[in-house]
Amino acid sequence: MNILQALRGRFDAVLSTMVDETAPLLEMIRPASDTKFGDYQANCAMPLKKKLGRESREIAAEIVEKIDLSDMCEPLEIAGPGFINIKLKDAWIEAQLAAAVTDERIGVPLVAEPKKYILDFSSPNVAKPMHVGHIRSTVIGDSLANTLRFLGHEVITDNHLGDWGTQFGMIIYGFKHFRDNDAYAESPVAELSRLYREVRKIIDFVDGQKALPARKAKLSEMSAELEERKAAPSTGDKGADKKAAKELQKLERQANEASKELTKDQAKLAELAADPEFAKLAAEHADISSAVLNETAKLHAGDEENLALWHEFLPKCREDIQRIYERLNVKFDHELGESFYHDQLAPVVDSFIEQGFAKESEGALCVFLEGFKAPMIIRKKDGAFLYATTDLATIQYRMNEWRPDAILYVVDFRQGDHFEKLFAAAKKWGYTDVELKHVSFGTVMGEDGKPYKTRSGDTVGLEGLLDEAVSRAEKIVRSNDKDGLLSDEQYKDVAQDVGIGGLKYGDLSQNRETDYVFSYDTMLALRGNTATYMQYAYARSQSIFRNGEIDIAALRSSGAKICITSPAERALATKVLRLPEALQEMVADYRPNQLTIYLFEELAKAYSTFFEQCPVLKAETAEQKQSRLLLCDLTARVIQQGLALLGISTVDKM
Ligand code: ARG
Repeated sequence: MNILQALRGRFDAVLSTMVDETAPLLEMIRPASDTKFGDYQANCAMPLKKKLGRESREIAAEIVEKIDLSDMCEPLEIAGPGFINIKLKDAWIEAQLAAAVTDERIGVPLVAEPKKYILDFSSPNVAKPMHVGHIRSTVIGDSLANTLRFLGHEVITDNHLGDWGTQFGMIIYGFKHFRDNDAYAESPVAELSRLYREVRKIIDFVDGQKALPARKAKLSEMSAELEERKAAPSTGDKGADKKAAKELQKLERQANEASKELTKDQAKLAELAADPEFAKLAAEHADISSAVLNETAKLHAGDEENLALWHEFLPKCREDIQRIYERLNVKFDHELGESFYHDQLAPVVDSFIEQGFAKESEGALCVFLEGFKAPMIIRKKDGAFLYATTDLATIQYRMNEWRPDAILYVVDFRQGDHFEKLFAAAKKWGYTDVELKHVSFGTVMGEDGKPYKTRSGDTVGLEGLLDEAVSRAEKIVRSNDKDGLLSDEQYKDVAQDVGIGGLKYGDLSQNRETDYVFSYDTMLALRGNTATYMQYAYARSQSIFRNGEIDIAALRSSGAKICITSPAERALATKVLRLPEALQEMVADYRPNQLTIYLFEELAKAYSTFFEQCPVLKAETAEQKQSRLLLCDLTARVIQQGLALLGISTVDKM
């Protein structure tokens, strides 16, 4: 049972006789911040003061008088200006625990109104180095899919692979000009990845050089303006002078930045140019940028040779990323990449034109959207369609095919603007009764404060990252196993779960919108908010059952009950019963860290206090021992379930 929801339901019955809109008031019923006064707390009387024109304490008294909570709670108490403190009855808690013990879902109810969700996540651009950000999307998306499903929603996961973009033009160009046949025969994906990087390097060089004169001109323009402003006489108006000084400062900063960037880039370009072999190559491929665009355009137009190459490359690239998914144990219901929508792009554009939603501007076809400065371009001057066009076609397809209530896009925050426009355009196009949500996330940073990069910057690099986590986990598990519980073989297995679990948890326990620093030490720490710690709490429970030779499954169905005999047991019990609430909080704004906060800050901490204060195998009576064993078991099951929803496995021994 979701206790908070039940409490809110009871309050709603009373509040709706007092005001029209109860939803914001119900939000003010929360788990108590200080459990000294109760388990939950309702702060809804205070905001009613103005509305009802009465003292809030008096309003609280009226609510308390009218509400029927006698089955669940001790008599409610009013504190201060009208806080209502809610304390659950021990007997009621025990009844909930008894129900959870024999319930496979450990008391988590299915939602009353299941919805259909499409989850668009992972979605890397294949044939291009996959980066840590894609792990982030994969891990967050997978945990949301698991949790929504567990709550009873229908979830369709779709990996919107970038399998049709310019990167294919790049590797096709690279393949035609620079391929090493032996290397390709030996390891096609590695060779394609090398070709990608080679082409990228030449493009950056050629384009970088081309851009230099304009950048230099811009910079001297800036310095000229600076000089002019510096020379400008005082206006005599203090306010205006101050403003001018501020602007001058800003301009100076910008000019400085630009100059630094330019110097840095110039040095890089000069270094490359100094390599005669590379310089020759770059000169031979001076038109590489347009040539690559041309190869891409030919592919899209159905050119036989390019299409054949694409058909040859794509399965290899997909196989390559599949290995990562296997190691992360993530599966998708669909992998409809961008190429899948190719034939639907022209009709999408036509539909926008027909309905008068798109206008030509400087040759490009634009959708102008209210509240946005720049329009959304859906067809370029040269006739090419864009990422946005594909995303519109994708919405149309998903709506026709699956009729979802919501589509969630787990994508890097840098695409925020794209999604805002996309959603606005989709609305304009008629898709109004679907929740379109960008589940945005921040950057994974290195310990040097810059975006984290794997050494080789490709999928091999990402695999290396997983390998490193696993090998470090093995060391930790070995050194922690002082009792020699595990065999060599078992260390390897446990290290997989601890290493990969640590990596996932390290990510999911962050507020998804903030950047975080990638550190093996932090994410594999035995203490603190880590998977390792949670996995250890689970394993410790199993070791108690082993040591006590307890058949815990038999005990669960024996009719034995959990009895609350001490504050630590009670505190743990109320936390165990909060799992449904934590899951609800997690999906409310699609934030996996709501679940990790619950698991660590609430559950694990209460569990550790319980261990300090309550002997289990050495409990005073046989009844108390059974009760505590069942409480350990229930806690362990909640940990296991919580971690499983995050995509993390538990182990019995570690
Ligand atoms: N392929 C894109 C990237 O790697 C992400 C795609 C996200 N999904 C979408 N429907 N746009 O940046």
